[in-house]
Amino acid sequence: MNRVHIKTYGCQMNERDSEAVAAMLRARGYRIVASEDDCDILLLNTCSVRDAAEQKAIGKAAHESSRRRRDPDFVLGILGCMAQNRGAGLLDRLPDVDLIVGTQKFHRVPDYLDNLRAAREAGVPVAEAIVETGVEEGSQNTIRDHMEGPGRQVCAFVSIQQGCDMNCTFCIVPRTRGDERSRPAGDIVLECEELAARGVREVTLLGQIVTSYGRRDQRQGDGASPFVRLLERVHAIPGIERIRFTSPHPRGFRRDLADAYSRLPKLGEHVHLPVQSGSDAVLRAMNRPYSRERYLEIVRMLKGARPAMAFSTDIIVGFPGETDEDFERTRTLCEEVDYDMAYVFKYSVRTGTPAASMPDQVPDEVRESRNQALLEVLRAGSLRRSRALVGTVQEVLVEGPDKTGLRLTGRTRANRAVVFDGPGRLAGELVPVEIAGASVSTLYGALAPAGAGLQTPACPVSL
Ligand code: 5AD
Repeated sequence: MNRVHIKTYGCQMNERDSEAVAAMLRARGYRIVASEDDCDILLLNTCSVRDAAEQKAIGKAAHESSRRRRDPDFVLGILGCMAQNRGAGLLDRLPDVDLIVGTQKFHRVPDYLDNLRAAREAGVPVAEAIVETGVEEGSQNTIRDHMEGPGRQVCAFVSIQQGCDMNCTFCIVPRTRGDERSRPAGDIVLECEELAARGVREVTLLGQIVTSYGRRDQRQGDGASPFVRLLERVHAIPGIERIRFTSPHPRGFRRDLADAYSRLPKLGEHVHLPVQSGSDAVLRAMNRPYSRERYLEIVRMLKGARPAMAFSTDIIVGFPGETDEDFERTRTLCEEVDYDMAYVFKYSVRTGTPAASMPDQVPDEVRESRNQALLEVLRAGSLRRSRALVGTVQEVLVEGPDKTGLRLTGRTRANRAVVFDGPGRLAGELVPVEIAGASVSTLYGALAPAGAGLQTPACPVSL
């Protein structure tokens, strides 16, 4: 009765938290299973960032509650952001849930499950759900374990920071993730070294606002910021070939970070830089402390450091008070930046955030039509940028078989997915691929002879 399945909703931080919980559970003797139909313990690691995400997880938990009622041995848990946001209140809707564990208590999940199972085995009736949503000092340091899978893992997420102090007026994250806390750089470097020793070639450093990494608690010199110093240390690790990070905040994107792209070739030609809106009035109302012009200046600075730089972003449409003119500014900003990809979100009211009580909430039809209009602009731009790569040779880090299992998949330095034919033993290798076809988000190609016409002059690796 120890087979656990963890279903994850939401962002990469949540995925990383789930991985760490899985690794901790496995170290305790639990079995992590890929199918939820085969599990004895189902843990839903949830997201609260938009109402739809919460409703999805609540719907799933309600559905699984009937299994819980039928099978007294089954364990159902809700972890993460929605557990933190709603706490014991979830039990009103979901009285059969056994476990509600917030974002600072993931590392306690093995103990809670051990206790629950021991009590059940001893026949002790467990009347009440375990609800744990407290603050825990140092909890950011507990997300560090990785599970070794059967296949080779080429790319890994590494959590460097938890929480957020920015207080964007739309956002629930300061409430679900708590104050900003960074892990010590030495711990992060050690984790990356261990991953490299296991064959990982690409690390993505994760945090709510990675550009603020270490600002609160590390020595501030005149030179590079703690985040850039961390990048330098990870860059020096043999075996790590690529470094990505998400998400930076435009406010913290200074010259030293742009310069890092000139100095550190393992940083690919891609930055995910959330803009949220192209209108200064909306940015102000969102409490985003930068202007459209400052954002564009950062984009120009990065294109200066790496001409092939690709950008992706997060955008909210229909923020309270957003006019047609404001929206038009967002649209023209998208054209100006020429994004490879963007996540577009319709503004979702989050109870307790300042924007929830702002006047001029935008009707849903307007939010929807702006959403569609922007998606169309972005789709056309992505396709154009994809097609421009046809005929070029790209350096691809091979991740393994594609969805069909028949071909290989990997990513370019600019984070574009590429599908091509080749032997499975190439997983973890950097190979040149000549691009022959392109869809909005995926490139198709064929292995090129070693060193053939790579279009990436900053490429650090001789092929
Ligand atoms: N409504 C819609 N989108 C939101 N995001 C955060 N809060 C909200 C909200 N209330 C989006 C932002 C953020 C991304 C992770 O989710 O664009 O960058």
